[in-house]
Amino acid sequence: MMNTYSNIKIAYYSGTGGTELAAKSFQSRLETEGCICTIEKITDGMDHDQCDHGLLLLLFPVHAFNAPDAVYKWIDGLDTVKRISAAVVSVSGAGEVCPNTACRVSSIKRLTKKGYHVLYERMIVMPSNWVAPAPGPLPYLLMQALPKAVAQITSDLLLGICKKSKPFWFDRIFSMMGKLETFGGHYWGKRIKVLEHCTKCGWCVGHCPSGNITMLNGKPTFADQCHFCLKCIYGCPSKALEPGTCKFVVIQEGYCLQDISKKHPQDPQIPVKDLKAGLFWLGVKKYLVSLSSNQGGNK
Ligand SMILES: Cc1cc2nc3c(=O)[nH]c(=O)nc-3n(C[C@H](O)[C@H](O)[C@H](O)COP(=O)(O)O)c2cc1C
Repeated sequence: MMNTYSNIKIAYYSGTGGTELAAKSFQSRLETEGCICTIEKITDGMDHDQCDHGLLLLLFPVHAFNAPDAVYKWIDGLDTVKRISAAVVSVSGAGEVCPNTACRVSSIKRLTKKGYHVLYERMIVMPSNWVAPAPGPLPYLLMQALPKAVAQITSDLLLGICKKSKPFWFDRIFSMMGKLETFGGHYWGKRIKVLEHCTKCGWCVGHCPSGNITMLNGKPTFADQCHFCLKCIYGCPSKALEPGTCKFVVIQEGYCLQDISKKHPQDPQIPVKDLKAGLFWLGVKKYLVSLSSNQGGNK
């Protein structure tokens, strides 16, 4: 393949690992295609690398129809550049549906202000990590579909294909309102409860993307900068963290992508298009159908 870009920077934010998996999958795919890739995980208060790439590939999970606030802060801290190409890939649990379609608008606006030319945007769907999992084999199928989505997007990027979406005004309003979730997240995170069987191992302290947890008198203590990513709750090795408020946001059975990958469906013969999915998961089904029919994704 004749590559449009040879030097690519991948920058990603991830809470529970779905976006990280996608970012690393892009890295290995792009390197296989002969590109030089640097990869950077977005965390609070990080320094920015020098800008010497031909394409910036930005990935983030959808949080309340938006990018997480840490991503906006990261973009705002970038140096201004002269028309470097950029691609924005959002990773959601529900797919390219209303009002998720507007989730890339603010990050694209901010990148444009910094001098980036955003010529490509797409949605990848991964198993949802909040409220409820998608029904039946959908989470497993999403894990299986990731390499195909990555291969399609990589091919589009290297061929110089442009893809931009035009979200409906209604979705934009929802997305703007969704930004209030940042403050809700700060409040929610401060109220996470540490249960008695906490082993004080410090896993949560070391893995929190916002550095919001510190060990105080041998007990994890939560400040007010929580990103609402749920990593600490799902990842705690002794399951000793529990939301103090709005418990419904956490999936009761837990969330582990490795486990989901192993949950092979009982009857894998049913074609994706015939699988039952409630109204809420229609975007997931549409995404899987589009990948299985090789038509080039969800938009
Ligand atoms: C606080 C919060 C808000 C979310 N909001 C949305 C949303 O608006 N739309 C959606 O489709 N998925 C939403 N999700 C699901 C995530 O986008 C999805 O599970 C993603 O794969 C998580 O990526 P990560 O594992 O890299 O953190 C939300 C998840 C969290 C924790």
